[in-house]
Formats: sequence, structure tokens, C-alpha cells
Amino acid sequence: MPTPARLHVAHALHGVFGEGERVPDIWDRDLGEDAHLAQALLGHCLRRWGRLQAWVKPNLKDPSRGVPLGTQVALAMGLAQLAWLPGVSDHAAVNESVLLAADRELGFPPHKGLVNALLRRAAKDRAALAAQLEALPASLDRSPAVEQALRMALAPHGAADQLEALWARLQQPPRPAFRVLKGESPEGLVPDLEVPSALRMAEGGSFPRPWLESGAGMVQDRTSQALLAYAWNRPVARILDACAAPGGKTTALARRHPGAEITALEAHPRRAARLRLTLQQREVEAEVIQADAAEWLERTEEAFDLILVDAPCSGSGTLQKHPEWPWLAHDELPRLTGLQRRLLTAAADRLAPRGLLIYAVCSWLPEEAEAHREWLAEARPDLRPATVWPAGLGVESGTAPTARFQPHPLRWEGEGFQAFALTWG
Ligand SMILES: C[S@@+](CC[C@H](N)C(=O)[O-])C[C@H]1O[C@@H](n2cnc3c(N)ncnc32)[C@H](O)[C@@H]1O
Repeated sequence: MPTPARLHVAHALHGVFGEGERVPDIWDRDLGEDAHLAQALLGHCLRRWGRLQAWVKPNLKDPSRGVPLGTQVALAMGLAQLAWLPGVSDHAAVNESVLLAADRELGFPPHKGLVNALLRRAAKDRAALAAQLEALPASLDRSPAVEQALRMALAPHGAADQLEALWARLQQPPRPAFRVLKGESPEGLVPDLEVPSALRMAEGGSFPRPWLESGAGMVQDRTSQALLAYAWNRPVARILDACAAPGGKTTALARRHPGAEITALEAHPRRAARLRLTLQQREVEAEVIQADAAEWLERTEEAFDLILVDAPCSGSGTLQKHPEWPWLAHDELPRLTGLQRRLLTAAADRLAPRGLLIYAVCSWLPEEAEAHREWLAEARPDLRPATVWPAGLGVESGTAPTARFQPHPLRWEGEGFQAFALTWG
């Protein structure tokens, strides 16, 4: 039997390429020490999937015949270990992959011999294998959906010619950022010079698991932290977080506006239960309501001084953290953009005079934010842009604060986001 780490990676790859599923955030929870190997291996396989398959093809007896997914997975995992994981021995990389190929569920037993022969040959010169893989065109690892997302990320900044540079940046595993919830920041974390609330791991520092488990801090991408560093000094007594799970932004809103009454909505029952628990553990006082936010907003008569719509979206801006994104079907976009517009309209109707509405998506696609902003400017001329973010984070040039938040994907490290802020009265 292959080791649990490799079985986890094989399952995750089958989930992505067989079922079209995202890799769950905690897919490696039970792996302990081996989580590191599993994360690295899965990352290499997903980030280089196109090149790995292209390398295999000419090495097959009949390249015109399709290769079963079980064989593709076993070979990709074996090649990735040989090429990019020098700590894994030749023997482990080859034999574990042969075992995977022999597995009836995850492999394709008739190709056991083929996997063995190809990997043994590749293991003879691992540096040459790595060089051959790197020499294949990077575009093999990009689906049409990812090409489009990259173009859309660069277009507002007039940087269309930087696509390869952006892709290269997104191939690096993301560096985590943290936020203090209680007490002082722990040793090994240093302040992020651009985002006041954010901490980064010091050079050579280790992941602060005990500190996170103690509840004194949380992981939050620095783009989300910058988004929530809006400048707003009007009174905020009532806050609505319309799409709240898993609760990172609800927590930050509670810290920013102590004493405000917070309502947190979440449509998905399990995510709502999780949100309730997380907020309790973090001692965040908020009323959690499991509901479709658009429906809830359409029937409530309450008004809020601050509304955050962190809308469900394609997640194109998260493809550094989710290297499976390029390989998933993105046929949900029309449903998502319809829902986003409904959420935004319903939220705008419940904004108190002189209140602040922030609409955000972790996506670069203009149809998920910019199109809604333009549409709303026509449909609701009473809503005005609220210039709440410092210059440099928006698409407008100059030194004045901006009402649009869309950090430059090459000059800013972190997830890709688009947001805009509105007020009225
Ligand atoms: C981008 S995530 C929110 C992340 C969250 N704001 C945070 O920072 O931790 C979007 C959330 O909206 C939820 N959602 C999707 N459709 C919804 C709807 N119609 N009403 C309310 N929540 C919805 C999803 O289940 C998901 O948890």
C-alpha cells in the first residue's frame, strides 16, 4: 500500500481531474509530519500537470491512445517526486507510484509495468528530467479559463504584456499572513510593512500552529486584511456581514467596530454552524443567521450602517492558493453573477443613510465586480463612490484615496480581489 501522504495526494488528484472537485482546505488534516510532503507533491502535480502529461506522451508506445486517469496520476506523482523533491529517494518515488498504479481504485493495474519502466528510466538522471520538464512551454499548465483570468487581472493596470511574469508569480506557493486576535504577536512573526494588521513569518520562521490553536491569532490573507483597512470615521452601530462563513472578515469587522451590533448571514447550513462555533471561540458577539442573504435582505426592514457583501464567486483570484483552479470547469459563472447582482441590489436597499456598503469578490473577472459597479451606477445614481482605500490599492492612478480596491497582481503579494465601496445620503 502507498503511504497515507501519497494516497491523500492521489485522492485529491482524482477529485480534481475525475470529479471536477476543489481540493478541500483541510484535505491534509490527518497527515501529521507527512503533511509537508503531501502539500509539496500535490502542489507540484497541480501546478505542472500539463507539462507532466506532455512529458509522458512521447514516451508511450502509442501516443495517440488516451491514458487512463489512474496511470496519469501515478506517473505525475512519480515524476514530480523525481524532478522536484530531492528529499525523496529514487526507490520511494518509483515504487510508491507502482503501488499506486496497481491500486484498483486509484490506479490502472494493467499499466503497472509501464509506470515502473518510465519512472525507472527517469530516475537515472533526475536533474535532466527536471530540465526537460522545465523546458516544456509553461502555457501547457494553463487552461483557457486561467488564461482569461490572468488577462483580466492585468488589463485594468495596463499590464497585458506581463502574463508570463504573473503566471510565474502564481506558481509559487503563497506565503501565509496572520492577524492577532488576543495579546501580543508571538515570536517568529514580523509586521507586514504595507498592511498594519498583518503579520508574516520571519525569515526561516516556522508556521505558528500552537499560537493559532490557542485562539490568539488567525490566518488571513493580506489582501483581505488590506480590504478591511478601509478608512471610515462615521458612526457604525449596526453591521451586516451578508456572506460570512468561515468568519474571517466578521472577526475583523468586530475588532474594527467594537460595540457595534453584528448580523452575520450564511446560506450553507454546515458553514453557518461552523461560523457560529468559530465566532464563539473567538469571543465575537454576532447574531448568526442561516439564510440566503438576498432573500433575507429582501424581506427585512432593518437598515445597517455598514454592509459587507463578500460574495460567492469564481475564486479566480485565489489560484495561487488553489492550484487546481485552472483544471476545474467554470460553468457556474452565469449563476454566480446573477446571485451577486441580487445580493448587491438587496444590500444597497438596506444601507442606512451615510452608511458604507462594501462589495468584494476574490476574483479578477470584471463580470463579477466591475460590471456590477457600472450597472449600479446607472440603476442607483443616489449611491456615491466612497473613497475609503489608500492610493495604490485601486485601479485609479494618483495619490488620492480610492473607492475601488483592486491591487496590482504583480506589485501586490496576496490573493486577487476586486471590491468597491458606496455610500449615500
Ligand atoms: C467568499 S465566501 C465568504 C468569506 C467570508 N466573508 C470570510 O472572510 O471568512 C462566500 C460565502 O457566501 C456563502 N453564500 C453563498 N451563497 C450565499 C447566499 N445566497 N447568501 C448568503 N451566503 C451565501 C458561501 O457559502 C460562502 O461561505
